[in-house]
Order: sequence, then C-alpha cells, then structure tokens
Amino acid sequence: MQPKPDRAAWLKGGNSNCNIGFGGPAEGQHRFVLLGAPGVGKGTQAELLSDRFHICPLSTGDIFRASTALAARCECCPAMLRALDYMKAGALVPDETVLALIRERAKCLRCNGGFLLDGFPRTIAQAEALEEILAENGVKLDAVLSYELPLEKIVARLGGRRSCPQCKKVYHIESMPPKKAGVCDACGVALFQRDDDRPEAIRVRMQAYEKSTTPLTNFYRGKGLLISIEAEGTPAAIFNRSLEAIQSFAKA
Ligand code: AP5
Repeated sequence: MQPKPDRAAWLKGGNSNCNIGFGGPAEGQHRFVLLGAPGVGKGTQAELLSDRFHICPLSTGDIFRASTALAARCECCPAMLRALDYMKAGALVPDETVLALIRERAKCLRCNGGFLLDGFPRTIAQAEALEEILAENGVKLDAVLSYELPLEKIVARLGGRRSCPQCKKVYHIESMPPKKAGVCDACGVALFQRDDDRPEAIRVRMQAYEKSTTPLTNFYRGKGLLISIEAEGTPAAIFNRSLEAIQSFAKA
C-alpha cells in the first residue's frame, strides 16, 4: 500500500519534497476547494475525501500551525510571527502574507495527484489571486464544495474539538471521542485544545467568516463551480452526501 503523503512540500514550503514524490498519474486527478464556516467540519471531510480520491488536503491553517514552533524560535520570520498573532486572536491573516505562502507552494497546485484546498481562498482577493496562480500553472478547479450548518451547531463542534499534537488527528469530546479521554488513539499522547477555539476567538472568527468568506459562495456560484452540501449528521453521512453531490455535478 502507498504511504500517506506527509505534505512536507505544503507544510514546510521552500525546497521541501513530499515522501511520495510528485503525485500520481495525471488522469483521474481532482482539484477541489472546500468552503464553510470555521468548525463546520471541513478538515474532517478533507481527510475522508483525500483518502477516497488520493489527493493531498492542503490547509492554510495547517501551514500556520506547523510554523508555530519554528517562528517562536526564529526572529527572522516577522511576517509569520505576525500571522500567528492574527490567528490566535481569530482574525484572518492579511492576504499579502497568505498569498506569498501559496505562491511559494505553487508546485503543490500543479501536483499530478491533484489537490484539496481547505481554508484557502477566504477572501475575494485570495480567490482572484488563486485563479491567476492556477492559470499560470496550467490547471483548473473541478468544483468548490461549500459545507453549510446553523451557527449554534458549529460553535458546539468548535468548543469540543481536541487535536493530537503529533499526528494532527482531530477528535470531538462528544461526537468523536478518543478511546481514552484526552489521549490520542494512535500516538498515546495528550490531546490539546487550539488557542483559537477559545470563546472570544471563536466570535472573531465567525465575524471574519461572515464578512470576508461568505461572498465567496456567490463568486464561485457565478463561475458554475459551487456545490452546496448540508453539513448536518455524522461525518460518514456528510462524506456520502459529498460523494453523491460530486458525482451528480460531474454528470451535469
Ligand atoms: P483553519 O485551520 O483553516 O481553521 P477554520 O477554517 O477556522 O476551520 P477549522 O479547522 O476550525 O474547522 P473545520 O471546518 O476544519 O472543522 P473540523 O473538521 O476540525 O484556519 C485557522 C486560522 O488560520 C484562521 O482563523 C486564520 O487566522 C488563519 N488562516 C487560515 N487560512 C487563512 C486564509 N486563507 N486567509 C487568512 N487567514 C487564514 O471539525 C471541528 C470539530 O467538529 C472537530 O472536533 C470535529 O471532530 C467535529 N466534527 C466534524 N464533523 C462533525 C460532524 N459531522 N458531527 C459532529 N462533530 C463533527
């Protein structure tokens, strides 16, 4: 069996290469963007979809989280240190910083394996820049999956989230608890709660989402790329709904 991609090229940028090289065969690749409010379950679905389609989940939030330890030690990354301050407070990182990171990782977008962007784009300026970057790299999006759920249910998902610092697996204290409370099933290490899952940061994140990211649904609807998916129910039910929606979209 092929190993899971470690996404080193995405998480570290620069000259880093992934453990499985530069993707699989060009045919059958998929290029998706996942949209949806913070905590709606994009990361959970990204894992399931990436296993199903053999594509890397590329989350901009993961880049920032992976850089946290490095930036804390290194005075030479002022832009990243500022980005992490925005993130801790729940605010969006400025477009300029995010786009510099994406351009540095353009090879992930032309990877033969395809891609699944999670958390990018998040503003109209980022969406327009993504179009430019994709055109420069000779690739196109297949579809944009937009996950939708009432706000109070989203806040409950965020408040109960716990993550493994080692393998990054995400749990929920009620809906997806680990076998032993507070401990990762796979690594046996203590789970942690993200800084930006505190109530005051959640409020700021929701406001940023409403103001900057919701206009993207109209942007992508106008381009005929939007697939709306109800994010109610178990992760497996939502995953099946996603697969059905992708199939119907591809046939239409
Ligand atoms: P990012 O990491 O992208 O966070 P987010 O969009 O806020 O999304 P989350 O990771 O919080 O939630 P999710 O939808 O993936 O939900 P999950 O699957 O974990 O960004 C973090 C920050 O980085 C931003 O706030 C910003 O500062 C910065 N940033 C990143 N990208 C940026 C950009 N492009 N521009 C500017 N700034 C940027 O699920 C949540 C919980 O619910 C989990 O506990 C899970 O177990 C549980 N759950 C999932 N599905 C279900 C289900 N069906 N039923 C019950 N529980 C469920």
